[in-house]
Amino acid sequence: MVFKLSIGFLALATLASAANFRRVACPDGVHTATNEACCVFHELADFLQTNKFDSTCGEDAHEALRLTFHDAIGFSFEQGPSVGTGADGSVILFESTELMDPANNGIDDAIDNLKPLLSMFDVTAGDLVQFAGAVAVSNCPGAPQLQFMAGRPNATHPAALGLVPKPEDPVDMIFARMEDAGFSPTELVSLLASHTIARSDTLIDNRQAVPFDSTPFTFDTQVFLEVLLRGNETLPPASGEAAAQVPNPLAAQGEMRLQSDFAISQSPQTACFWQFMVNNQQAIQQGFHDAMAKLAVVGQDTSKMIDCSEAVPVPVPAVAKQATFPAGTGPELLQLACDSPFPSLATDPGQATTIPECPDGDTNLNDCPS
Ligand code: HEM
Repeated sequence: MVFKLSIGFLALATLASAANFRRVACPDGVHTATNEACCVFHELADFLQTNKFDSTCGEDAHEALRLTFHDAIGFSFEQGPSVGTGADGSVILFESTELMDPANNGIDDAIDNLKPLLSMFDVTAGDLVQFAGAVAVSNCPGAPQLQFMAGRPNATHPAALGLVPKPEDPVDMIFARMEDAGFSPTELVSLLASHTIARSDTLIDNRQAVPFDSTPFTFDTQVFLEVLLRGNETLPPASGEAAAQVPNPLAAQGEMRLQSDFAISQSPQTACFWQFMVNNQQAIQQGFHDAMAKLAVVGQDTSKMIDCSEAVPVPVPAVAKQATFPAGTGPELLQLACDSPFPSLATDPGQATTIPECPDGDTNLNDCPS
Protein backbone atom coordinates (compact mmCIF):
# COMPACT_ATOMS: atom_id res chain seq x y z
CA MET A 1 0.00 0.00 0.00
CA VAL A 2 2.79 2.36 0.93
CA PHE A 3 4.49 1.44 -2.34
CA LYS A 4 1.27 2.09 -4.33
CA LEU A 5 0.83 5.46 -2.64
CA SER A 6 4.38 6.44 -3.52
CA ILE A 7 3.80 5.49 -7.16
CA GLY A 8 0.66 7.63 -7.20
CA PHE A 9 2.54 10.52 -5.59
CA LEU A 10 5.36 10.17 -8.06
CA ALA A 11 2.95 10.21 -11.00
CA LEU A 12 1.29 13.36 -9.67
CA ALA A 13 4.65 15.01 -9.10
CA THR A 14 5.74 14.14 -12.63
CA LEU A 15 2.53 15.59 -14.07
CA ALA A 16 2.95 18.77 -12.04
CA SER A 17 6.53 19.20 -13.12
CA ALA A 18 5.63 18.54 -16.77
CA ALA A 19 3.08 21.35 -16.50
CA ASN A 20 5.68 23.63 -14.89
CA PHE A 21 8.24 22.98 -17.58
CA ARG A 22 5.95 22.82 -20.62
CA ARG A 23 7.65 24.88 -23.32
CA VAL A 24 6.00 27.07 -25.90
CA ALA A 25 7.16 27.19 -29.49
CA CYS A 26 8.54 30.63 -30.34
CA PRO A 27 7.35 32.55 -33.41
CA ASP A 28 10.82 32.29 -35.03
CA GLY A 29 10.22 28.56 -35.49
CA VAL A 30 13.66 27.88 -33.99
CA HIS A 31 13.39 28.24 -30.23
CA THR A 32 11.11 27.05 -27.48
CA ALA A 33 10.71 28.86 -24.18
CA THR A 34 9.17 28.30 -20.76
CA ASN A 35 7.39 31.62 -21.14
CA GLU A 36 6.46 33.27 -24.43
CA ALA A 37 7.91 36.55 -23.14
CA CYS A 38 11.37 34.92 -23.22
CA CYS A 39 11.25 34.09 -26.95
CA VAL A 40 12.64 37.45 -28.01
CA PHE A 41 15.62 36.98 -25.70
CA HIS A 42 16.50 33.64 -27.29
CA GLU A 43 16.59 35.43 -30.65
CA LEU A 44 18.51 38.36 -29.20
CA ALA A 45 21.11 36.01 -27.68
CA ASP A 46 21.75 34.45 -31.09
CA PHE A 47 22.05 37.87 -32.70
CA LEU A 48 24.41 39.22 -30.07
CA GLN A 49 26.65 36.18 -30.23
CA THR A 50 26.86 36.17 -34.03
CA ASN A 51 26.94 39.87 -34.82
CA LYS A 52 28.28 41.64 -31.76
CA PHE A 53 30.45 39.37 -29.62
CA ASP A 54 31.62 36.66 -32.05
CA SER A 55 30.92 34.34 -29.12
CA THR A 56 34.19 35.51 -27.56
CA CYS A 57 35.21 37.30 -24.38
CA GLY A 58 36.67 40.19 -26.38
CA GLU A 59 36.50 43.95 -26.12
CA ASP A 60 32.81 44.25 -27.06
CA ALA A 61 31.84 41.70 -24.42
CA HIS A 62 33.89 43.55 -21.77
CA GLU A 63 32.28 46.85 -22.69
CA ALA A 64 28.78 45.35 -22.55
CA LEU A 65 29.43 44.13 -19.02
CA ARG A 66 30.70 47.53 -17.90
CA LEU A 67 27.55 49.14 -19.29
CA THR A 68 25.32 47.05 -16.99
CA PHE A 69 26.95 48.73 -13.99
CA HIS A 70 26.89 52.24 -15.40
CA ASP A 71 23.17 51.94 -16.09
CA ALA A 72 22.17 50.27 -12.82
CA ILE A 73 24.14 52.49 -10.46
CA GLY A 74 22.05 55.49 -11.55
CA PHE A 75 19.92 55.09 -8.45
CA SER A 76 19.86 56.51 -4.92
CA PHE A 77 17.80 55.49 -1.90
CA GLU A 78 18.72 58.79 -0.29
CA GLN A 79 17.82 61.14 -3.14
CA GLY A 80 14.93 59.20 -4.65
CA PRO A 81 13.78 58.46 -8.20
CA SER A 82 14.34 61.97 -9.57
CA VAL A 83 18.08 61.21 -9.77
CA GLY A 84 17.61 57.90 -11.57
CA THR A 85 15.61 54.71 -11.60
CA GLY A 86 18.45 52.18 -11.70
CA ALA A 87 18.71 49.43 -14.31
CA ASP A 88 16.31 51.24 -16.60
CA GLY A 89 18.22 51.75 -19.86
CA SER A 90 18.62 55.48 -19.20
CA VAL A 91 22.28 55.18 -20.13
CA ILE A 92 21.34 54.48 -23.75
CA LEU A 93 18.04 56.37 -23.89
CA PHE A 94 19.58 59.58 -22.51
CA GLU A 95 23.16 59.00 -23.54
CA SER A 96 23.93 62.62 -24.40
CA THR A 97 23.21 63.61 -20.78
CA GLU A 98 24.79 60.63 -19.03
CA LEU A 99 27.93 60.78 -21.17
CA MET A 100 28.66 64.18 -19.64
CA ASP A 101 29.64 62.33 -16.45
CA PRO A 102 33.43 61.78 -16.68
CA ALA A 103 32.98 58.42 -14.90
CA ASN A 104 31.16 57.30 -18.05
CA ASN A 105 34.16 57.94 -20.32
CA GLY A 106 34.47 55.07 -22.75
CA ILE A 107 30.97 53.63 -22.46
CA ASP A 108 29.94 55.24 -25.75
CA ASP A 109 31.38 52.25 -27.65
CA ALA A 110 28.99 49.85 -25.91
CA ILE A 111 26.08 52.25 -26.41
CA ASP A 112 26.85 52.57 -30.13
CA ASN A 113 27.10 48.80 -30.38
CA LEU A 114 23.83 48.00 -28.62
CA LYS A 115 21.47 50.92 -29.22
CA PRO A 116 20.61 49.99 -32.85
CA LEU A 117 19.18 46.69 -31.53
CA LEU A 118 16.31 48.61 -29.93
CA SER A 119 14.76 49.05 -33.36
CA MET A 120 15.36 45.42 -34.33
CA PHE A 121 14.06 43.61 -31.22
CA ASP A 122 10.95 44.32 -29.18
CA VAL A 123 12.76 44.81 -25.89
CA THR A 124 13.14 47.76 -23.53
CA ALA A 125 16.44 49.57 -23.17
CA GLY A 126 17.00 48.35 -19.60
CA ASP A 127 16.35 44.75 -20.61
CA LEU A 128 18.72 45.11 -23.57
CA VAL A 129 21.57 46.45 -21.43
CA GLN A 130 21.31 43.79 -18.72
CA PHE A 131 20.69 40.91 -21.12
CA ALA A 132 23.60 41.88 -23.38
CA GLY A 133 25.86 41.96 -20.31
CA ALA A 134 24.76 38.48 -19.25
CA VAL A 135 25.30 37.06 -22.74
CA ALA A 136 28.69 38.79 -22.95
CA VAL A 137 29.88 37.26 -19.69
CA SER A 138 28.91 33.76 -20.84
CA ASN A 139 31.76 33.96 -23.37
CA CYS A 140 34.39 34.32 -20.67
CA PRO A 141 35.82 30.98 -19.49
CA GLY A 142 35.01 30.43 -15.82
CA ALA A 143 32.11 32.87 -15.56
CA PRO A 144 28.83 31.90 -13.90
CA GLN A 145 25.60 31.80 -15.90
CA LEU A 146 23.98 35.07 -14.88
CA GLN A 147 20.35 35.45 -13.98
CA PHE A 148 18.19 37.50 -16.34
CA MET A 149 14.80 38.86 -15.38
CA ALA A 150 12.80 40.53 -18.18
CA GLY A 151 10.43 43.46 -17.87
CA ARG A 152 12.20 46.73 -17.02
CA PRO A 153 10.10 49.71 -18.08
CA ASN A 154 11.94 52.30 -20.16
CA ALA A 155 13.51 55.15 -18.19
CA THR A 156 11.64 58.42 -18.40
CA HIS A 157 14.61 60.61 -17.47
CA PRO A 158 18.40 60.41 -17.28
CA ALA A 159 20.31 59.51 -14.13
CA ALA A 160 21.96 62.44 -12.38
CA LEU A 161 25.65 62.98 -12.98
CA GLY A 162 28.04 61.94 -10.21
CA LEU A 163 26.43 58.62 -9.22
CA VAL A 164 29.05 56.38 -10.89
CA PRO A 165 32.15 55.79 -8.72
CA LYS A 166 35.50 56.90 -10.12
CA PRO A 167 38.85 55.12 -9.68
CA GLU A 168 40.36 58.11 -7.90
CA ASP A 169 37.52 58.44 -5.35
CA PRO A 170 38.38 57.80 -1.68
CA VAL A 171 37.36 54.30 -0.65
CA ASP A 172 34.81 55.46 1.94
CA MET A 173 33.12 57.60 -0.67
CA ILE A 174 32.88 54.55 -2.96
CA PHE A 175 31.43 52.40 -0.17
CA ALA A 176 28.90 55.11 0.68
CA ARG A 177 27.83 55.48 -2.95
CA MET A 178 27.39 51.72 -3.32
CA GLU A 179 25.49 51.47 -0.05
CA ASP A 180 23.13 54.23 -1.22
CA ALA A 181 22.32 51.96 -4.18
CA GLY A 182 21.84 48.89 -1.93
CA PHE A 183 25.25 47.21 -2.01
CA SER A 184 27.48 46.27 0.93
CA PRO A 185 31.28 46.59 0.69
CA THR A 186 31.61 42.81 0.27
CA GLU A 187 29.00 42.79 -2.49
CA LEU A 188 31.13 45.41 -4.23
CA VAL A 189 34.13 43.07 -3.97
CA SER A 190 32.04 40.35 -5.61
CA LEU A 191 31.04 42.74 -8.40
CA LEU A 192 34.68 43.65 -8.94
CA ALA A 193 35.35 40.15 -10.20
CA SER A 194 34.29 41.92 -13.42
CA HIS A 195 37.72 43.57 -13.49
CA THR A 196 39.21 40.17 -14.32
CA ILE A 197 37.93 40.78 -17.85
CA ALA A 198 38.67 44.49 -18.04
CA ARG A 199 40.94 46.94 -19.77
CA SER A 200 41.04 50.72 -19.81
CA ASP A 201 40.74 52.74 -22.98
CA THR A 202 40.59 56.16 -21.38
CA LEU A 203 42.85 56.45 -18.35
CA ILE A 204 46.29 56.58 -19.94
CA ASP A 205 46.95 59.11 -22.68
CA ASN A 206 47.49 57.54 -26.11
CA ARG A 207 47.00 53.98 -24.88
CA GLN A 208 44.10 51.62 -25.34
CA ALA A 209 43.23 48.25 -23.86
CA VAL A 210 45.36 48.59 -20.72
CA PRO A 211 44.56 45.41 -18.75
CA PHE A 212 43.77 45.18 -15.03
CA ASP A 213 45.25 41.67 -14.80
CA SER A 214 47.44 39.41 -16.90
CA THR A 215 44.51 37.28 -18.16
CA PRO A 216 41.92 39.78 -19.43
CA PHE A 217 39.96 37.19 -21.42
CA THR A 218 39.29 34.65 -18.69
CA PHE A 219 36.98 34.96 -15.72
CA ASP A 220 39.57 33.82 -13.21
CA THR A 221 40.82 35.11 -9.86
CA GLN A 222 44.07 36.66 -11.14
CA VAL A 223 42.80 40.20 -10.67
CA PHE A 224 42.30 39.60 -6.94
CA LEU A 225 45.93 38.46 -6.70
CA GLU A 226 47.51 41.03 -8.99
CA VAL A 227 45.83 44.01 -7.30
CA LEU A 228 47.75 42.93 -4.17
CA LEU A 229 51.18 43.12 -5.83
CA ARG A 230 53.40 46.11 -5.03
CA GLY A 231 54.79 48.00 -8.02
CA ASN A 232 57.87 50.11 -8.38
CA GLU A 233 56.90 53.21 -6.43
CA THR A 234 59.74 55.25 -7.92
CA LEU A 235 58.53 54.92 -11.53
CA PRO A 236 56.39 57.92 -12.50
CA PRO A 237 52.86 56.99 -13.65
CA ALA A 238 52.15 57.20 -17.35
CA SER A 239 50.68 60.45 -18.57
CA GLY A 240 47.04 60.74 -17.62
CA GLU A 241 46.86 57.83 -15.19
CA ALA A 242 48.22 59.48 -12.03
CA ALA A 243 45.10 59.82 -9.89
CA ALA A 244 43.43 56.66 -11.08
CA GLN A 245 46.26 54.22 -10.47
CA VAL A 246 48.76 52.83 -8.01
CA PRO A 247 52.11 51.45 -9.23
CA ASN A 248 52.05 47.82 -10.34
CA PRO A 249 54.85 45.36 -11.06
CA LEU A 250 53.64 44.55 -14.58
CA ALA A 251 53.70 48.14 -15.82
CA ALA A 252 56.34 47.26 -18.40
CA GLN A 253 54.04 44.52 -19.71
CA GLY A 254 51.24 47.06 -20.02
CA GLU A 255 49.13 46.34 -16.93
CA MET A 256 47.69 48.90 -14.52
CA ARG A 257 46.20 48.74 -10.99
CA LEU A 258 43.21 50.95 -10.30
CA GLN A 259 43.54 53.10 -7.17
CA SER A 260 39.97 52.10 -6.23
CA ASP A 261 40.58 48.34 -6.58
CA PHE A 262 43.74 48.61 -4.49
CA ALA A 263 42.06 50.74 -1.80
CA ILE A 264 39.19 48.24 -1.58
CA SER A 265 41.70 45.37 -1.26
CA GLN A 266 43.26 47.18 1.74
CA SER A 267 40.19 48.50 3.59
CA PRO A 268 39.43 46.88 6.98
CA GLN A 269 35.87 46.31 5.71
CA THR A 270 36.90 44.29 2.67
CA ALA A 271 40.55 43.19 2.89
CA CYS A 272 39.77 39.68 4.20
CA PHE A 273 37.00 39.10 1.68
CA TRP A 274 39.29 40.33 -1.12
CA GLN A 275 41.99 37.85 -0.08
CA PHE A 276 39.39 35.08 0.26
CA MET A 277 38.71 35.47 -3.48
CA VAL A 278 42.32 34.72 -4.46
CA ASN A 279 42.48 31.27 -6.11
CA ASN A 280 38.86 30.65 -5.12
CA GLN A 281 37.05 30.22 -8.43
CA GLN A 282 33.90 28.96 -6.75
CA ALA A 283 33.72 32.05 -4.53
CA ILE A 284 34.10 34.52 -7.39
CA GLN A 285 31.50 32.65 -9.44
CA GLN A 286 28.95 32.50 -6.66
CA GLY A 287 29.63 36.02 -5.40
CA PHE A 288 29.50 37.53 -8.89
CA HIS A 289 26.36 35.62 -9.79
CA ASP A 290 24.50 36.80 -6.72
CA ALA A 291 25.72 40.39 -6.79
CA MET A 292 24.99 40.71 -10.51
CA ALA A 293 21.48 39.32 -9.98
CA LYS A 294 20.95 42.21 -7.58
CA LEU A 295 22.67 44.81 -9.76
CA ALA A 296 20.60 43.88 -12.80
CA VAL A 297 17.32 44.78 -11.06
CA VAL A 298 18.31 47.90 -9.11
CA GLY A 299 15.24 50.13 -8.84
CA GLN A 300 12.96 47.55 -10.49
CA ASP A 301 9.82 45.81 -9.22
CA THR A 302 10.84 42.17 -9.58
CA SER A 303 7.30 40.95 -8.83
CA LYS A 304 6.37 42.24 -12.30
CA MET A 305 9.31 40.59 -14.05
CA ILE A 306 9.66 37.22 -15.77
CA ASP A 307 12.66 34.95 -15.28
CA CYS A 308 14.23 34.44 -18.71
CA SER A 309 17.63 33.23 -17.47
CA GLU A 310 17.19 30.21 -19.74
CA ALA A 311 18.02 32.51 -22.70
CA VAL A 312 21.48 33.28 -21.26
CA PRO A 313 23.98 30.89 -22.87
CA VAL A 314 25.74 28.32 -20.69
CA PRO A 315 29.20 29.83 -20.05
CA VAL A 316 32.46 28.50 -21.39
CA PRO A 317 34.03 26.30 -18.65
CA ALA A 318 36.90 27.61 -16.56
CA VAL A 319 40.45 27.05 -17.74
CA ALA A 320 41.97 24.38 -15.53
CA LYS A 321 44.63 26.59 -13.96
CA GLN A 322 45.25 27.69 -10.39
CA ALA A 323 46.03 31.33 -9.70
CA THR A 324 49.76 32.01 -10.09
CA PHE A 325 52.13 34.88 -9.48
CA PRO A 326 52.88 36.22 -12.96
CA ALA A 327 56.45 35.62 -14.16
CA GLY A 328 58.77 38.22 -12.68
CA THR A 329 56.62 38.67 -9.55
CA GLY A 330 56.25 36.63 -6.39
CA PRO A 331 54.98 36.49 -2.81
CA GLU A 332 57.56 39.07 -1.68
CA LEU A 333 55.48 41.73 -3.47
CA LEU A 334 52.22 40.98 -1.63
CA GLN A 335 50.58 43.91 0.13
CA LEU A 336 48.27 42.17 2.57
CA ALA A 337 45.93 44.00 4.93
CA CYS A 338 44.22 40.90 6.34
CA ASP A 339 45.81 38.47 8.79
CA SER A 340 44.22 35.28 7.48
CA PRO A 341 46.62 32.79 5.90
CA PHE A 342 47.37 33.52 2.24
CA PRO A 343 47.20 30.61 -0.22
CA SER A 344 50.49 29.14 -1.33
CA LEU A 345 50.74 29.78 -5.06
CA ALA A 346 53.29 28.92 -7.73
CA THR A 347 55.05 31.54 -9.84
CA ASP A 348 54.89 31.35 -13.64
CA PRO A 349 58.29 30.52 -15.13
CA GLY A 350 60.28 33.04 -17.17
CA GLN A 351 61.51 36.59 -16.81
CA ALA A 352 58.31 38.42 -17.59
CA THR A 353 54.68 37.74 -18.37
CA THR A 354 53.28 38.41 -21.82
CA ILE A 355 49.75 39.70 -21.62
CA PRO A 356 47.63 38.73 -24.63
CA GLU A 357 45.87 41.50 -26.56
CA CYS A 358 43.16 39.30 -28.12
CA PRO A 359 41.00 36.45 -26.78
CA ASP A 360 42.82 33.91 -29.01
CA GLY A 361 46.16 34.78 -27.37
CA ASP A 362 47.39 37.05 -30.18
CA THR A 363 49.65 39.84 -28.90
CA ASN A 364 48.76 42.42 -31.56
CA LEU A 365 45.67 44.48 -30.74
CA ASN A 366 45.06 45.15 -34.44
CA ASP A 367 44.52 41.42 -35.05
CA CYS A 368 41.59 41.14 -32.60
CA PRO A 369 38.20 40.50 -34.20
CA SER A 370 36.17 42.48 -31.62
C1 HEM B 1 34.23 51.02 -7.45
C2 HEM B 1 33.59 50.74 -8.53
C3 HEM B 1 34.21 50.79 -9.89
C4 HEM B 1 35.13 51.65 -10.41
C5 HEM B 1 35.77 52.84 -9.74
C6 HEM B 1 35.41 51.20 -11.76
C7 HEM B 1 36.27 51.83 -12.64
C8 HEM B 1 36.58 51.38 -13.90
C9 HEM B 1 37.43 52.05 -14.83
C10 HEM B 1 38.12 53.38 -14.58
C11 HEM B 1 37.51 51.31 -15.94
C12 HEM B 1 38.31 51.61 -17.21
C13 HEM B 1 37.43 52.33 -18.21
C14 HEM B 1 38.22 52.75 -19.41
O1 HEM B 1 39.15 53.54 -19.25
O2 HEM B 1 37.94 52.27 -20.54
C15 HEM B 1 36.70 50.14 -15.73
C16 HEM B 1 36.54 49.14 -16.64
C17 HEM B 1 35.64 48.13 -16.49
N1 HEM B 1 34.77 47.95 -15.44
FE1 HEM B 1 34.78 48.96 -13.71
N2 HEM B 1 34.67 50.09 -12.02
C18 HEM B 1 33.92 49.80 -10.92
C19 HEM B 1 33.01 48.78 -10.78
C20 HEM B 1 32.64 47.94 -11.81
C21 HEM B 1 31.55 47.02 -11.75
C22 HEM B 1 30.62 46.86 -10.56
C23 HEM B 1 31.51 46.38 -12.95
C24 HEM B 1 30.58 45.33 -13.46
C25 HEM B 1 29.63 44.77 -12.84
C26 HEM B 1 32.61 46.86 -13.74
C27 HEM B 1 32.98 46.38 -14.96
C28 HEM B 1 34.01 46.87 -15.71
C29 HEM B 1 34.45 46.26 -16.96
C30 HEM B 1 33.92 44.97 -17.57
C31 HEM B 1 35.46 47.07 -17.45
C32 HEM B 1 36.26 46.86 -18.72
C33 HEM B 1 35.68 47.55 -19.91
C34 HEM B 1 36.54 47.31 -21.13
O3 HEM B 1 37.44 46.49 -21.09
O4 HEM B 1 36.28 47.97 -22.14
N3 HEM B 1 33.26 47.82 -13.01
N4 HEM B 1 36.13 50.22 -14.48
